[in-house]
Amino acid sequence: MSRIVLFENIHPSAREVFEAAGFTDIQTHKGALSGQELLDAVKGAQVVGIRSRTQFDSSVLEQADQLKVLGCFCIGTNQVDLGEAERRGVPVFNAPFSNTRSVAELVLGEAILLLRRIPEKNLRVHQGFWDKSAEGAYEIRGKTLGVIGYGNIGSQVGTLAEALGMRVLYHDVESKLPLSNARVYGNLKQMLAESDVVTLHVPGGQSTQNIINADTLAAMKPGAILINASRGTVVDIAALHQALVSGHLAGAALDVFPVEPKSVDEPLKSPLIGMPNVILTPHIGGSTQESQENIGREVAEKLVSFLRSGATKGAVNFPEVSYHDIHGACRLLHVHRNIPGAMGGLNNILAEHGLNISRQQLQTQGELGYALTDLDRVPDEEVLEAVRAHTATLRCELIVAQ
Ligand code: NAI
Repeated sequence: MSRIVLFENIHPSAREVFEAAGFTDIQTHKGALSGQELLDAVKGAQVVGIRSRTQFDSSVLEQADQLKVLGCFCIGTNQVDLGEAERRGVPVFNAPFSNTRSVAELVLGEAILLLRRIPEKNLRVHQGFWDKSAEGAYEIRGKTLGVIGYGNIGSQVGTLAEALGMRVLYHDVESKLPLSNARVYGNLKQMLAESDVVTLHVPGGQSTQNIINADTLAAMKPGAILINASRGTVVDIAALHQALVSGHLAGAALDVFPVEPKSVDEPLKSPLIGMPNVILTPHIGGSTQESQENIGREVAEKLVSFLRSGATKGAVNFPEVSYHDIHGACRLLHVHRNIPGAMGGLNNILAEHGLNISRQQLQTQGELGYALTDLDRVPDEEVLEAVRAHTATLRCELIVAQ
């Protein structure tokens, strides 16, 4: 029976999934541990679940010598030394899509608030003014939304926006099937020129750095609104500040920033602070109770699927193999260096011990190879030791069919 250790108050939905699958040896820790406490807690665990605050570096991976699989119950995985996990044959899973809806709802909520100039009006009432006017306040119905990056979140924003009566345009570097009546625009500036609200849903990194800059801001419709809940690096903040000061843009909402504070008491540094037509939120686009519950379930299901079948679909550091029922008595999981002779060596050892292969799947990625071999009978420890001793082998595990 695999021992599961969960840190950082992972949502109880994860425990429900484990228990329903028959994995009941579960230890939970409320907070994130570090140092010797963390090393002690992971010792002997076959499955570990963390969120973003547990630093899972090479020393922790070394101590977790029984670890078969690691779950990040969050989106990001940079708290884990993924390369070291890969070298040790430990797949790492996360939950990249569990908060899609939460981000989409926030974006549309902000679009409505900014079109009605609610941030300014709210502030005025708090300051003691009763500034009752319809000037510069618009309905969202009939307005045009320009979506940059029509992936999981962007396409969902588009679908919800249409339900509110918006016309939806999108621009993506990949060819994406339009949902509902959304229209694709190959030319970004043309889309910007037609959009009353522009929302960004692209990944971070070099290729998307400052997509919104002085040039693209100038291409936006006068009086338009910009929303960024993707990555902080995609908007040139100085240029946006200028476009807001000049009145070219009517407002903006930002959930992500080029440099974000590290702790609760560290203030955000930005020229946009104090602007009444700018909504600033602390990277909470995906942070809702529902998304936490979804994350708990999504990651736990991936871990259970791995424990039952060796499936690595969705792993961030591993060759991906989809779920298949075990065809025979057991399944041998063989993680190996991606070199000539690795598969030959494995199959020869099995043949020498009279084991017949009923099904075999191989996937490779970079320096890693991952083979799932279904066998007609359960091999004894001597066979496993022989496989482990092969020069190409990084890890060898057995799952017996239930
Ligand atoms: P996704 O990978 O499903 O979609 C991204 C889309 O952007 C893809 O269709 C891709 O082809 C497109 N793209 C890439 N480069 C582009 C470019 N230069 N121009 C136009 N399109 C481009 O990603 P998903 O799940 O929709 O997430 C989108 C962003 O939202 C990511 O940056 C993610 O980190 C961020 N995010 C933010 C959250 C928050 O709390 N604010 C929560 C969840 C995600």
